[in-house]
Amino acid sequence: MPSLEKAPVVFHRRLSENIYLLEYFSPAMAREARPGQFVNVRVGESNDPFLRRPISIHDVNMETECVSLLYKVVGRGTEMMSRLGLNDSIDIMGPLGNGFSLPDKAGRVLLVGGGMGIAPLTFLARALKSRALETTVLYGAESLEKAVALNFFRDHGIECRLATFDGSGGHKGLVTALLDEIGSAHRLFQKLYCCGPAAMMNLVAEWAHLNSMEAEFSLEEHMACGVGACLGCACKLKSDDENYVKVCKDGPVFNLNRLGEMEGNR
Ligand code: FES
Repeated sequence: MPSLEKAPVVFHRRLSENIYLLEYFSPAMAREARPGQFVNVRVGESNDPFLRRPISIHDVNMETECVSLLYKVVGRGTEMMSRLGLNDSIDIMGPLGNGFSLPDKAGRVLLVGGGMGIAPLTFLARALKSRALETTVLYGAESLEKAVALNFFRDHGIECRLATFDGSGGHKGLVTALLDEIGSAHRLFQKLYCCGPAAMMNLVAEWAHLNSMEAEFSLEEHMACGVGACLGCACKLKSDDENYVKVCKDGPVFNLNRLGEMEGNR
């Protein structure tokens, strides 16, 4: 069940130019959260900015009962959020959305994340590892400096291959080039999970289709209420679908076979 609370901020640090890691204390959310879910954050005490901001759950620490969020400053709301200090509390609703479904048998899985799309894949990778699933992460970032989740995977002993646009770390170019390196070894993976910019996810979806892989994608969409009440996130997954889905409630994670071309801010 999602809860609404003002949770104390226990850690908050800038990791890169405009990327921050914030951790808050919430035993209820730490207990309830599943990989792929998100929280809706309200910044400021007034109704300005009016809307809450959806932010993926980056990880959960059951020992300290804390939840962490990895986020990028992209506008006034997240800029205000970046100014929260350790004595402040954060107004949070969550956990929200459906989350990823985890395989119920042992095997190997492939995760592909680009930019801030890596944020929900960290929690997922740790959950998969705790179930003894062999996990390989393909991680695309603008530069080594912006590959802020790299240490997370290293610290947890999760294999991570990096691609950067500027060549400052790993393969120089798009993360999707790493899929070509995998080639026929795709058969070793029982499932693929993906989150990132729409252009990247379309290429990954095409590759997964081509190789008949079971896959789940986490979509981004403009949101308001976050709980299925306002239709602010309603969209058609395929252009010829008759019905709309609510990304906040029916998603944000969808199986590959439900998806058409992904576009816009997804
Ligand atoms: Fe309101 Fe999805 S954000 S219905």
